[in-house]
Amino acid sequence: MTKSNPILDALRERRSIRKFTNDPVEREDLKAILDAGRWAPSGLNNQPYRFLVIYDDDARVEALAECTKYGHIAKAAKVLICIFLDKQSMYSEMKDHQGAGACTQNMMLAAHSLGLGTVWLGEIINQQDQVLEKLKLPADRYELQVVLALGHPDQKGSSKRNELSEYMLEDF
Ligand SMILES: Cc1cc2nc3c(=O)[nH]c(=O)nc-3n(C[C@H](O)[C@H](O)[C@H](O)COP(=O)(O)O)c2cc1C
Repeated sequence: MTKSNPILDALRERRSIRKFTNDPVEREDLKAILDAGRWAPSGLNNQPYRFLVIYDDDARVEALAECTKYGHIAKAAKVLICIFLDKQSMYSEMKDHQGAGACTQNMMLAAHSLGLGTVWLGEIINQQDQVLEKLKLPADRYELQVVLALGHPDQKGSSKRNELSEYMLEDF
């Protein structure tokens, strides 16, 4: 029997959401989500991530949507949270990228706990230079990690996982 508590349940029950209702995201909820990102672990506690919030009525949504084949999802979201690494705060290429992942997951779980849905848009970082140019951010300073699409879910979402034994290199 798998153990259950609010955190374990949220970990299991969160699904990527790519369709959103038109309901706005409360500012207090948005703040709680950003704050959850802030509390992520990072190597040496260097906290190298930076956040940019873009609301659905901002012209930059269309500009970002043009940078990814998942542009329709960016346009469907009520809010986009762009997560960057600040190169001036980085100390290790790999560990800072891992930290950005932890930060993103914290935000996704926080959103889920508030009844909101997210999807991690990662394909967009293949167009890194284009995105930074459109956002007028210096490429020698910032590196886009994720665009997190956020809103009230208009679908349940679904996905599967392999059996735990398939992940294990040894029995435990
Ligand atoms: C690094 C990374 C990049 C991703 N990029 C995209 C993306 O560009 N577009 C998209 O629709 N989903 C993207 N996803 C979401 C995954 O498709 C999704 O997490 C996976 O299919 C499992 O589904 P679940 O989140 O509902 O459990 C990405 C997830 C990760 C972790």
